[in-house]
Amino acid sequence: MQELNIIAKSIEENLDVPRISSETNEPGFLGKVYIESYGCQMNFADSEVVTSILINKGYGTTSNIQDADTILLNTCAIRENAEQKIRHRLQTFKALKTKNPKVTIGILGCMAERLKTQLIEEEKLVDLVAGPDSYRDLPNLLDQIENGQKAINVFLSKEETYGDIEPVRLHTNGVSAFVSIMRGCDNMCSFCVVPFTRGRERSRDVASILNECEHLFEQGYREVNLLGQNVDSYRWIDPATKEIITFDKLIQLTAQINPDLRIRFSTSHPKDITNEVLHAMAAYPNICKNIHLPAQSGSNRILELMNRTYSREWYLDRISAIREILGPECGISHDIIAGFCTETDEDHRDTLDLLDSVVFDFGYMFTYSERPGTPAAKKLRDDVPDHIKSKRLQEIIDLQRKHSGIRNDQMIGKIQRVLVEGNSKKSDQHHFGKTDNNKVVVFKKGSETIGSYVDVKITSCTTGTLLGQLI
Ligand code: 5AD
Ligand code: SF4
Repeated sequence: MQELNIIAKSIEENLDVPRISSETNEPGFLGKVYIESYGCQMNFADSEVVTSILINKGYGTTSNIQDADTILLNTCAIRENAEQKIRHRLQTFKALKTKNPKVTIGILGCMAERLKTQLIEEEKLVDLVAGPDSYRDLPNLLDQIENGQKAINVFLSKEETYGDIEPVRLHTNGVSAFVSIMRGCDNMCSFCVVPFTRGRERSRDVASILNECEHLFEQGYREVNLLGQNVDSYRWIDPATKEIITFDKLIQLTAQINPDLRIRFSTSHPKDITNEVLHAMAAYPNICKNIHLPAQSGSNRILELMNRTYSREWYLDRISAIREILGPECGISHDIIAGFCTETDEDHRDTLDLLDSVVFDFGYMFTYSERPGTPAAKKLRDDVPDHIKSKRLQEIIDLQRKHSGIRNDQMIGKIQRVLVEGNSKKSDQHHFGKTDNNKVVVFKKGSETIGSYVDVKITSCTTGTLLGQLI
């Protein structure tokens, strides 16, 4: 995911910084909606579904908040600071509301689901609260507000996948798009609020996924990112043939759409990623050789308390299988939580040791943040002092930065097929794109267009970016 120049910064870029929707059409008679998204890629994908639902009902969109009749924040609840960020953002809307008391402010997503009516009681500016499974109801909820009421829908569904809704692409460079393949999570990792905010796991029907990907390819997109909290549990039973489509089958079907359509996916769970998935990846050159495999900790004692249901040895075995089946160049990234309940120095050393054993390409690293209502919050004490959590996190970040450098160095001299995604941020004389194994490459422009594939020889690197030359 994205550039890894400064790892800590890139975590922020991916998880906490709002992306603002672009103008999508002329305003309809129901008013203009402005939407800001926070958190994981799934939230960004959901905002595209929300926009589609509202446009179909006669709303327009705007990228200028001052111009909006309705402001929606699609929120994250995974760590406390994600919620604080939203509360601060809400404060900045006070002036807007004073200027235009008719403006509607709505909170969507995981924070809405977690706090429910509490959010309306505590944040006087908020008119609407809608959880991740209630977006089809948004037009009704907005009607209620028109009639002077506050509106809330936080019902979680066992079926909703929004499979029939064609998202309006907001967060796109026209080359790469998110495609949601499932929702919810049944894993119950003890630290995680997601099973409570996104509900039970359910898979989207295979035909709607393939249709969406085909349509994207026809529109010029060259990469799809299949999204789910736990993609390896994807399971769809064809009602006519009773054939069971599992994730390995799904990626093969998607890869068959066109050899020029790249397939990426996240997130994989170490307990579920099968050799069948790895063999399917190996069989198709257009399934990108990159796996995001959150480890969370390198200590068996902590993994058990986290209810991750695998051991360090199991995790390392999966890494060996990845490298054996997909080759040593396959990109592998992780998530690690520093300072989980009862974590000792020895547990922390086990995590550093795991990183040393694997040498990951990239990682997302966090300090533990207790979430009310989760199994860990109920049964365990959040007893690692903040300064120790931060110190451990810094050690993990420093080690990962070193490893990212090592892994990038190994690419020097190699020729890589790169999908061109746009102008380099620093120079319009340069393009940037990504390698198969998900590394950002910057190179001097030739005659290539955005969305095309080029061969680039890697000539040097930083810990975050590869530099290369067209060949
Ligand atoms: N505190 C810190 N990090 C968390 N994550 C999930 N829940 C928490 C929490 N309570 C991290 C995990 C997960 C990623 C999406 O966020 O590493 O894989
Ligand atoms: Fe949370 Fe675990 Fe589900 Fe990931 S797999 S969303 S960490 S419960």
